Amino acid sequence: MVDSPAISVDALVKRFGVFTAVDQLSFSVARGEIFGLLGPNGSGKTTTINLISGLSEPSGGAVSIFGLDPRRQATAVRRMLGVVPQETALYEELSAWRNLSFHAELFGVPAGERPRRIAAMLELAQLTDRAKDRVSTFSGGMKRRLAIARALLHDPALVYLDEPTLGVDVQARHVIWNYIREMKSQGRTVLVTTNYLEEAEQLCDRLAIIDHGRLMALDAPATLKASYGSTVVELELDTPAPKSLIGFLSALPGVADVQADGAQVKVGLRIADIGPHEEGSGRPVSPGSDRHEAAAALPGILDRVAQAGVRTRRLNLREASLDEVFLALTGRGLRD
Ligand SMILES: Nc1ncnc2c1ncn2[C@@H]1O[C@H](COP(=O)(O)OP(=O)(O)O)[C@@H](O)[C@H]1O
Ligand SMILES: [Mg+2]
Repeated sequence: MVDSPAISVDALVKRFGVFTAVDQLSFSVARGEIFGLLGPNGSGKTTTINLISGLSEPSGGAVSIFGLDPRRQATAVRRMLGVVPQETALYEELSAWRNLSFHAELFGVPAGERPRRIAAMLELAQLTDRAKDRVSTFSGGMKRRLAIARALLHDPALVYLDEPTLGVDVQARHVIWNYIREMKSQGRTVLVTTNYLEEAEQLCDRLAIIDHGRLMALDAPATLKASYGSTVVELELDTPAPKSLIGFLSALPGVADVQADGAQVKVGLRIADIGPHEEGSGRPVSPGSDRHEAAAALPGILDRVAQAGVRTRRLNLREASLDEVFLALTGRGLRD
């Protein structure tokens, strides 16, 4: 148990009738990691969270939490877990304080410790002055913060947050990110689902991209971006790109992906294939070498464009986005 990962999911399957919501999903989350589950609406994120919290029974496969089975050892697992559900379920007619004290009792926080613990969590959620007010008078952001405070009340080693920033304004979103970083610095393991790419990229140590309940990719955000093409060459041509050009460009060494939309062409360069790179990491040896290597690929690209009989109006080099990785992997955007 000491060495077991925080979460281990092995060939997990969940069917609802004939529909498969989670399809042979396998991954593990290391202790102390912020792990992101990224996928469009309906891709199976909440279902996965429910399976690994023991709320729902798998149709196949196995889950273990710190080496324990969340269904057979439910009480022990529940004490280690703090869950911030997608739909914030609070008692609207009770005060913030009563909501927390109810939860503290339910989760076995010793009676003598409860007032101190509740006060500390209200402080964290910046709700101290609203402690006695009914939750029904709170804004959406305040409810979200209270739900986070509640999840941390029993000092869990592992925290799940299901779309914690959905429908939250930018400022409140940053506050929530900071809470999540703080959880990590306190040594907790965090599993967070989101369909905000920016958030996933900045927050998560590793990301699992899922679509239709299946794992499409799993790695550190920077490595995911590098595997699609860490540098993107954008071309604007004077005419729509001829079909043959796409083929020529795709065949060039180091080209990971080519997409054309009329006269706009995007060429994803997989720098690792062109220049020297660290063993197995997919990352270039020195970060600064990215642009040099991309520059080395440019003559070949421009040459193919000239051969196709079209001219380049504009050319731009930039870093690939996680959005492009997602599109390349799943063929669809995150929020279609
Ligand atoms: N209880 C259920 N019964 C039938 N279908 C369900 C149930 N829960 C979820 N689904 C379906 O499973 C898929 C995944 O849903 P969900 O896990 O909620 O996705 P996400 O959280 O990524 O948006 C969706 O197509 C959803 O309609
Ligand atoms: Mg969901």
